Formats: sequence, structure tokens, C-alpha cells
Amino acid sequence: MNQRIFFLIIIITSIMSCSVQKQTTETQQTLYQAIGGAPQVEKIVDAFIINIANDPQVIGYFTHTNVDYFRQGFIQHFCQALSGPCTFEGDSMQDIHTGMYITEGDFNRVVELLIKALEQTKVSYPLQNKILNKLAPLRDDIIKI
Ligand code: HEM
Repeated sequence: MNQRIFFLIIIITSIMSCSVQKQTTETQQTLYQAIGGAPQVEKIVDAFIINIANDPQVIGYFTHTNVDYFRQGFIQHFCQALSGPCTFEGDSMQDIHTGMYITEGDFNRVVELLIKALEQTKVSYPLQNKILNKLAPLRDDIIKI
């Protein structure tokens, strides 16, 4: 009888440790992996670029921008911000946006267009929030400079 209880305890504790291990693996997943990796990042950035192109409030900033170059750079930067396997090789956010004098309202508009792109590409609300938390700290490096 004691031996049966002993084996039962062993079985229960191994099941519990398996489930803890699974939880740990899930939480260790990067945000980049959680949203679906490279194909999903590309879909988001493409939707974002179309949203910018159709937005009379902010399109003026991009008049002289090479769209292919911007697309590649934004994909790389976004991938890195989401802890993906990329290194953004462009200039600092501050250097890129210096001289644009981006207002707070226009910054917020661009964030709205990004949120719209996340919705269009069916990113869940919890993941949307995590992505925005990664980008929000960049605000002071981008506006009014
Ligand atoms: C969290 C917000 C933002 C992030 C993460 C971000 C990120 C970037 C990145 C990575 C690039 C460089 C792409 C490359 O050339 O390698 C870039 C370029 C650019 N960004 Fe932003 N940006 C943000 C907000 C804004 C806002 C609010 C505006 C204007 C309203 C803006 C206007 C531009 C423009 C015009 C360029 C292209 C510059 C050029 O033509 O060389 N960005 N941004």
C-alpha cells in the first residue's frame, strides 16, 4: 500500500514538473515568435506602409522617402524590437528623425496606423499591447526634434 502511494506521488510530481516546464517554454518564446515570425512581420509592415500612404495627415513626411529602403529598415527594426533574430543596421532613431519636427499628434497618428495594421493582420489584443509597450519608449527619440 505504502509503495503504491509512493509511486502515485512520483507520477503526480512528474506530471506537475512537465506542465511547469511547458509553461516556462511558452513564456520564453519571444514576441517575434509569438506573432508568427518573419512572414507576419512583413505582412504588418506592408499594411502599415499602405496605411501611411493613404493618410493625408502624415504622408507629407514621406514625400522624399525611398519606400523599399524604408520597408527593409522598418522590418529589421521591428524584428529587433520584438527580440527577433535581426540587428537593425540603420542610424539611431534620433538621427533618423532629427529635422522632421514630428508633432505629438502626428506621432500618435502613426501609432494609430500601426495599430490598424496589427488589426488588419489579425494580431491579438494582448500581443498588440506588448508590441506597443516595446515601441512607446522610442517616443522621446522621435518627436519634436
Ligand atoms: C514608434 C514609432 C516609429 C518607429 C519605430 C520608426 C522607425 C523608423 C525606422 C526604423 C526608420 C528607418 C528605416 C530605414 O531607412 O532604415 C524610419 C524612417 C522614417 N520615419 Fe520613422 N519611426 C517611427 C515614427 C515615425 C513618425 C511618427 C514619423 C512621422 C510622422 C516617422 C517618419 C519617418 C520618415 C519620413 C522616415 C524616412 C526617412 C527617410 O526617408 O530617410 N517615423 N522610421
